[in-house]
Amino acid sequence: MKALLLLLLVAVASAKVFNRCEWARVLKRNGMDGYGGYSLANWVCLTQWESSYNTAATNSNRNGSTDYGIFQINSRYWCEDHKTPRSSNGCGIQCSELLTDNVSVAIRCAKRVIRDPNGITAWVNWSRHCANRDLSSYTAGCSL
Ligand SMILES: *[C@@H]1O[C@H](CO)[C@@H](O)[C@H](O)[C@H]1NC(C)=O
Ligand SMILES: *[C@@H]1O[C@H](CO)[C@@H](O)[C@H](O)[C@H]1NC(C)=O
Ligand SMILES: *[C@@H]1O[C@H](CO)[C@@H](O)[C@H](O)[C@H]1NC(C)=O
Repeated sequence: MKALLLLLLVAVASAKVFNRCEWARVLKRNGMDGYGGYSLANWVCLTQWESSYNTAATNSNRNGSTDYGIFQINSRYWCEDHKTPRSSNGCGIQCSELLTDNVSVAIRCAKRVIRDPNGITAWVNWSRHCANRDLSSYTAGCSL
């Protein structure tokens, strides 16, 4: 019984670290190539520098908010974690939903984030590591 429960838990909510090309294909299948005006390589670069493609990544910010998952989505504005002061939940989700291997929730929320006035610059690491660079290496060698 215990083993069955464990198995169920793992099946429902296991985290995943994607490899680069596998993740690029998932992004493409979910309409991210060109989304918001940004090529697939921009989205691969962004997630490389935010989470290294790890859906379980979490980072606490000094202001009391936390960034969740493969896109490091912030709990102050976008998801509910029941511990961030004065937060709004722009994506209408639990932050924990951003940590599973079902990345459709995270991708949908990233699409919401980029429609905001800050656009892709909401992701500090995109500005730092991806803007105005040759990003071809991020999708190189992937059969897309
Ligand atoms: C990504 O940006 C955050 C600030 O938002 C920073 O704390 C973190 O170290 C950066 N991650 C990497 C891998 O550079
Ligand atoms: C808290 O810090 C994070 C990461 O630096 C930032 O994205 C967010 O906008 C900040 N929230 C507030 C309310 O300052
Ligand atoms: C992933 O999550 C979405 C939204 O919660 C749900 O509609 C979908 O069925 C889930 N996909 C899988 C494979 O569990």
